[in-house]
Amino acid sequence: MELPRAPRINPSILAADFVNMQADLARIATADFAHVDVMDNHFVPNLTFGPQMVERIQATSPIPLDVHLMITDPERWAPGYAEIGAASVTFHLEAATEPVALARRLRDIGSRAGVAVKPATPVESLYEILDEFDQILVMTVEPGFGGQGFMPETMPKLRALAEEARRRGSSVWLQVDGGISDRTIEIAAAAGADTFVAGSAVYGADDVEAAVSRLRDLARAASLES
Ligand code: DX5
Ligand code: ZN
Repeated sequence: MELPRAPRINPSILAADFVNMQADLARIATADFAHVDVMDNHFVPNLTFGPQMVERIQATSPIPLDVHLMITDPERWAPGYAEIGAASVTFHLEAATEPVALARRLRDIGSRAGVAVKPATPVESLYEILDEFDQILVMTVEPGFGGQGFMPETMPKLRALAEEARRRGSSVWLQVDGGISDRTIEIAAAAGADTFVAGSAVYGADDVEAAVSRLRDLARAASLES
């Protein structure tokens, strides 16, 4: 698969209409990846889709899937999402017992391997193992719900990661998720993010395609300036 270039816009289907999923997937055909929030009502206090639903989404989506697992015991469940054919599978660092071993397994199956950190989780432990991942997701809200406000206090961590990646010549993607909108995307892009998840900002727009391209333009301009 040819990988889309930065800045990448990944609409979160958490903000889609769950009973009109096929139509709502078709509306984001010009975006880069469909972001799929898997929640287990345990790692986070909310419940969404499981593997069976994600398999149907994979079969139906016009664009590849970016699966974000907000679940405990990712060692047990994450490989199944890679087997379904998800382009990328991201698990939480806070939930994993052996993040490197799990990332290697995901890559072996053929998906990109991602690791996510909650707003209060430090990222220094990832510096030495950056090459083990294709994507690092810096949460810009507490995981669990769409429609929350962007937390600017997560930006120093993102900036440090971007600097570290540059220093090491790493090509790891830096993703942000939560509260990304026309008003906040430039802040995250300037801090070094290249991949942007947006739920309510995309699906809440009258013209979804225009919202995606506007977010992309704003991110591109802000990353060129920084
Ligand atoms: C939150 C999810 C996000 C969420 C983002 O736990 O991981 O992907 O859908 O929604 P917005 O863009 O509305 O903050
Ligand atoms: Zn997410």
